[in-house]
Amino acid sequence: MTTALITGATAGIGAAFARRLAADGHNLVLVARDEKRLNEQATELHDRHGVEAEVLRADLAEDEGIGAVEARLSDRTQPVDLLVNNAGFGNKGVFLEVTMADELRMLKVHCEAVLRLTSAAVPGMRERRRGGVVNVASVAAFVPRGTYGASKAWVVQFTQGAAKDLEGSGLRLMALCPGFVRTEFHERAGMPAENIPSWLWLDADKLVTSALKDLARGKTVSVPDPRYKAFSGLAKLAPRGALGRASSGTGRR
Ligand SMILES: NC(=O)c1ccc[n+]([C@@H]2O[C@H](COP(=O)([O-])OP(=O)(O)OC[C@H]3O[C@@H](n4cnc5c(N)ncnc54)[C@H](OP(=O)(O)O)[C@@H]3O)[C@@H](O)[C@H]2O)c1
Repeated sequence: MTTALITGATAGIGAAFARRLAADGHNLVLVARDEKRLNEQATELHDRHGVEAEVLRADLAEDEGIGAVEARLSDRTQPVDLLVNNAGFGNKGVFLEVTMADELRMLKVHCEAVLRLTSAAVPGMRERRRGGVVNVASVAAFVPRGTYGASKAWVVQFTQGAAKDLEGSGLRLMALCPGFVRTEFHERAGMPAENIPSWLWLDADKLVTSALKDLARGKTVSVPDPRYKAFSGLAKLAPRGALGRASSGTGRR
């Protein structure tokens, strides 16, 4: 039986990964800050699917939290076969409206934690010659969109680069780039979501199904859903200035 560790497992996309991987028979390590929610989720997944669901409370905006997850990932006696770096959040406001503390917290969770946890997981996977890492980025990686877009662009570039460096090792590394997904993300950030047209919203469970298919196919970047595939193709061709004007203010205030 294989084990998957998911960060940000208590809500939204991370919870959808946990449901799907448990249904497929994987044991789980569930990581987030809210211990009560983690315990409830672990009990439910264990009871429903008969898998082991371990709880690891950690704040990935803190060195101590990142360190605790690094230690779990590098424990050779309890190997982790799939790492899903999913924890993340949005900050309301454009450049200079967001406090420096919040900007840095975002870089810590979206970039430093992803770098450190991937680096902790991969050596054991490489020795076993199997394993996978899914780093949840965003289609915002393809457009100028403040620190959020920049941090997700880092996730895509980092993942593609590491996948190239590990070619032939038997490991799969993939950046997942969703569009708008119905989760707690916008409400937590205090961002208005009612202006976003209903046809743009994705379902988290369907997103995860597409992501896992892309991982099995060996893709290094996954953009689930034809609407967002078209969007990311256009974003590569469109002038950066026009892209910036269109994306910079949308839904951020
Ligand atoms: N929803 C979208 O439209 C969308 C689109 C593209 C990409 N994404 C990306 O998808 C990922 C998941 O977002 P979501 O939409 O599923 O959001 P969500 O519903 O708000 O869930 C976020 C999860 O991350 C955890 N988390 C947040 N900060 C954390 C921290 N400092 N340490 C540990 N865990 C933390 C939360 O749990 P606790 O509060 O208990 O810690 C929660 O489990 C993020 O990386 C986000 O950037 C989302």
